[in-house]
Amino acid sequence: MTEKTEAGRTYFEIALSALEVGSVLTFDLWIQHNAKRPVLYRKKELPFAEEQRERLRSSGIDTLLVSFEDAATCKLYLERHLAKRLSDPKLSSEERMKLFTDSARSTMQDVLGDPLADDVEQRVDTLTESLCDLISGPKALHTAIAMMEHDYYTYTHSLHVAIYCVALARAAGVSNEARIADIGRGALMHDAGKCRLPAELLNKTGTLTQEEWRLMQSHPEEGLRILKDSGWTNPVVLDMCLNHHERLDGTGYPNALSGEQISFESRINAICDAYDAMTTDRAYQGAMRGIDALRCIRSDGAKKYDQELVEIFIRALLMK
Ligand SMILES: [Fe+2]
Ligand SMILES: [Fe+2]
Repeated sequence: MTEKTEAGRTYFEIALSALEVGSVLTFDLWIQHNAKRPVLYRKKELPFAEEQRERLRSSGIDTLLVSFEDAATCKLYLERHLAKRLSDPKLSSEERMKLFTDSARSTMQDVLGDPLADDVEQRVDTLTESLCDLISGPKALHTAIAMMEHDYYTYTHSLHVAIYCVALARAAGVSNEARIADIGRGALMHDAGKCRLPAELLNKTGTLTQEEWRLMQSHPEEGLRILKDSGWTNPVVLDMCLNHHERLDGTGYPNALSGEQISFESRINAICDAYDAMTTDRAYQGAMRGIDALRCIRSDGAKKYDQELVEIFIRALLMK
């Protein structure tokens, strides 16, 4: 999210294409001309009409500003109107993906910030629906990858892993949409337990002490506890949360499962999780190139990751 601070007020950008014609805005819209101070463009509680959109478009404006004071209501507006906006045939695939990733990032930031909140499961369901609609076919995966952020945060990581997991499940031949959606949900929530870990631990640059490593390895079980406490019962989601760090050769955690004990969904999650972690900037390590990360997963991880799925993942990533 691009932020700007002007005269003590902080703003974030909102794409013109995110605004639903005919809807009543729940936030003030600001506009900035030629790097001058933002001015109020349209007050909240007023409907946004085609006339406004066309006037802005013809002036070459495709982004407006919203003040952080209105961030919460703006987020809910974007979520509520997302599915409808994504179905707009006038949008290019890039505009559609941008709308999705902007809204998904902010939803995941909220969801993982407070995974016990009442509306989490419903918000994840809504997000998963758009995710599964969009991530279909190799072109969609590449459009999504082009929009990924390179800095590592648990909420962006979880979104990336969900995008990769849905793409890999489809490429591996899963055609049941309900199963694909479960894999998407599970991937979005796989690191829910990390919200209980101190930020200093997640961002530590040096080697972890034994105690810190023990704490880090507690996140799958902690995540499972959080999900169960907040009422999740979906077995795929619970399995992916608990078992995404298990490895085929029995060297993973928390239960050192091996081979067939690890489900298809958790094998997919393990590959996508490792790939995203390697290709984003971490406190302790810069981002690797995609090709090098794949090499690591294929050679160093030959006994850890399901190599049949790794090959399918590589093909999906290389296919244009
Ligand atoms: Fe994890
Ligand atoms: Fe992860």
